[in-house]
Amino acid sequence: MQQLKVCELFAGVGGFRLGLEDTGNYRVVWSNQWEPSTKMQHASLVYEARFGAENHSNQNIEEVPTSAIPDHDILVGGFPCQDYSVATTLKNSKGLIGKKGVLWWSIHRIISEKKTPPKYLFFENVDRLLKSPSTQRGRDFAVMLKSLDELGYAVEWRVINAAEYGMPQRRRRVFFLGYHKSSSAYKAMAKSSPEAWMTSEGTIAQAFPVFKEKGALCSFELSDDLVSISESFNKTGGLSPFLNTGSCINGKVSTLKTKASQTMPATTLSDILENGSADESLFIPEEELPKWTYLKGAKKEIRRTKAGFEYNYSEGSMVFPDALDQPSRTIITGEGGKSPSRFKHVVQTRKGLRRLSPVELERLNMFPDNHTQLAGISDTKRAFFMGNALVIGVVRGIGEALFRKIKELEK
Ligand SMILES: C[S@@+](CC[C@H](N)C(=O)[O-])C[C@H]1O[C@@H](n2cnc3c(N)ncnc32)[C@H](O)[C@@H]1O
Repeated sequence: MQQLKVCELFAGVGGFRLGLEDTGNYRVVWSNQWEPSTKMQHASLVYEARFGAENHSNQNIEEVPTSAIPDHDILVGGFPCQDYSVATTLKNSKGLIGKKGVLWWSIHRIISEKKTPPKYLFFENVDRLLKSPSTQRGRDFAVMLKSLDELGYAVEWRVINAAEYGMPQRRRRVFFLGYHKSSSAYKAMAKSSPEAWMTSEGTIAQAFPVFKEKGALCSFELSDDLVSISESFNKTGGLSPFLNTGSCINGKVSTLKTKASQTMPATTLSDILENGSADESLFIPEEELPKWTYLKGAKKEIRRTKAGFEYNYSEGSMVFPDALDQPSRTIITGEGGKSPSRFKHVVQTRKGLRRLSPVELERLNMFPDNHTQLAGISDTKRAFFMGNALVIGVVRGIGEALFRKIKELEK
């Protein structure tokens, strides 16, 4: 079977591309990355420096005409998590649904306008997506599943914590795959039982094995139209119906709770530390230690709002310094820079306490060393990229399993 042609949206510094092309079975034919509200397009510059400028677009995806995007087999991306409510009635409003600036609708537009829509979709997002917004838990994901159903896709999803499969970072993200009606994977999914697909026969289960946790499989139909789903889904409140594993085919959602079943040796924070002496700027100066200790510590105190109202504030302590014998905590976009913080990683070394280097942050996402190194790009920016990116081992694993599945089914 030939390599699958990939279109990479919201490409950042290329996490999907690295993971998929690593397998040898995928080739990116077009990519797009644009950072709103900044003149310097740092992530796009890194992307072009690593992969070349050809077939890369640095334009707001909302303004890219679908005709500029070549045909592809699989559309991938980690899109920003936003409010997906549908603002307009859909009747007679072909192409324009949802609010401007909501990037899901750019993905939707590309799929719906392509004469030959991609057979496969592969997206990543924060796991909060399954539960948002807080006033109508699960509505956003329901809108997404329904719109994909209308476009002819079946979907399977799973929340995966990379560290549970031997990767160096505890990063919990929802990954979902879409199979177009015209694909053999869609037909295979339609034949299988939802539970079997989610726990053993599906692509994600084959990439990252799980077992079903106690509790019944929950099923329901997304039978209303998009506007009604947007307006009324889970209006009465309560928990999101979407559990950490699920599928949706022909508008029928099936979801259950699963747990990683494979115990793999952990990759720990100490495994990814750079050998040799670290840059001086990473070390925490003696005089700043009290501030770090305070921020990382447990607190119970009275605070005051700007308007002068007093309130009780409490939070637990963070492990400080970070445990070296475990996978790291999640990298966030504010990981870089010298200022003391509750969330930045701090490790104890022979020379003293220090923050992580840009290369160490890249290793936590399994990127190649110095992938984001480029003249004019600060360490803080490099940390920001990694906070936005993903653990590429997860993409590689799902990519391999998908290719294997397609090959088997098409034999
Ligand atoms: C969650 S990050 C994805 C990071 C990527 N997976 C990686 O490995 O680096 C989302 C990306 O979407 C980009 N983005 C936000 N709005 C955009 C728009 N309107 N058009 C194109 N890209 C956009 C952001 O700049 C950011 O790099």
